[in-house]
Amino acid sequence: MNPLPSSPTAHVSSQAPRFARIAGTGSYLPPRRLSNADMAALLAEKGLETSDEWIVERTGIRARHFVDDGVNSSDLALHASRAALQAAGRTADDVDLIIVATSTPDMVFPSTACILQQKLGVHGCAAFDLQAVCSGFVYALAVADSMIKAGSANCALVVGAEVFSRILDFNDRTTCVLFGDGAGAVVLEASAEPGILATELHADGRHVGILCVPGTVAGGQVLGDPLLKMDGQAVFKLAVGVLDSAARAVLEKAGRSAEDLDWLIPHQANIRIMQGTAKKLRLPLDKLIATVDEHGNTSAASVPLALDVAVKSGRVKRGDTVMLEGVGGGFTWGAVLLDF
Ligand code: UT7
Repeated sequence: MNPLPSSPTAHVSSQAPRFARIAGTGSYLPPRRLSNADMAALLAEKGLETSDEWIVERTGIRARHFVDDGVNSSDLALHASRAALQAAGRTADDVDLIIVATSTPDMVFPSTACILQQKLGVHGCAAFDLQAVCSGFVYALAVADSMIKAGSANCALVVGAEVFSRILDFNDRTTCVLFGDGAGAVVLEASAEPGILATELHADGRHVGILCVPGTVAGGQVLGDPLLKMDGQAVFKLAVGVLDSAARAVLEKAGRSAEDLDWLIPHQANIRIMQGTAKKLRLPLDKLIATVDEHGNTSAASVPLALDVAVKSGRVKRGDTVMLEGVGGGFTWGAVLLDF
């Protein structure tokens, strides 16, 4: 038995410059869709009031998807990964690195990436989770890019998968209407051509408290509150500033300008933040990919979900220049600029 997976060398000679390029995308949404009216009915049972009008006006969200009992992040990741592998013309045996960005892992440990590897029916390749909340996928893509450029991986499966419905406080109308479940994945391969042009990652731990799930597991019990807490206005203000600075920094690093962008795919949390980011870059709004209306905020899954939707709908095409941006708890933020 060969303990190591065979991985594609992706046409890269040892002398040639080495880049990482997205070879395929995939995504998955659990089938149970809740409209804003469904959420209003759910909250009414608890004596809380919300409305489709409030949610759409403040966030752009019209619906979200929630998993059923017994379905975990690794299950959503498996569907998205299979779709990405198929789109890339690869099999799980080709993969030599798995990174799963998630804040809602199946277990405390082992990692959801190891559980995904087992579900994919392969073994031996490196697999780990990356925790950067809503910036998780952008962080994971930047890490996989670095590992491929360094020659320590040739074919990476990079996944964002979340079941945020498990950590929502359905007695808090200011947060529970905002989030949803889902997964997105890309196959990132070594390539002689870019690919990923530049990445930017940042964090500021001074803002730990504005978006967190403060509980933990200790002594056989959950200690503290295991449900999501957010100071929405504080997050909003920070997000607007850092998304703009990350976008400008990653463009400068790559020697490109905003006019070179075909598509902007920011974290899908609030349409007002997303449109504000596009406007600051003087991008026409038809270059903004928005899926927040149908997905809600799926945290680490939001960017790869939106990317896959844009690819499958024929908007993002081979050769297009795309900027991906993440922002969220930590506080974390970052951007990836790539030629698709
Ligand atoms: O994923 C990480 C990134 N996360 C984000 O980017 C989220 C950033 N923050 C936001 O998107 C926005 O701050 C929210 C959507 C969370 C809130 O929007 P807002 O315009 O900042 O509203 P607000 O918090 O100022 O609340 C306005 C009013 C309040 O009532 P009063 O005090 O004016 O009487 C809230 O109690 O809206 C009320 N409210 C609601 N009303 C109906 C709050 N939640 C709801 C609700 N339904 N679900």
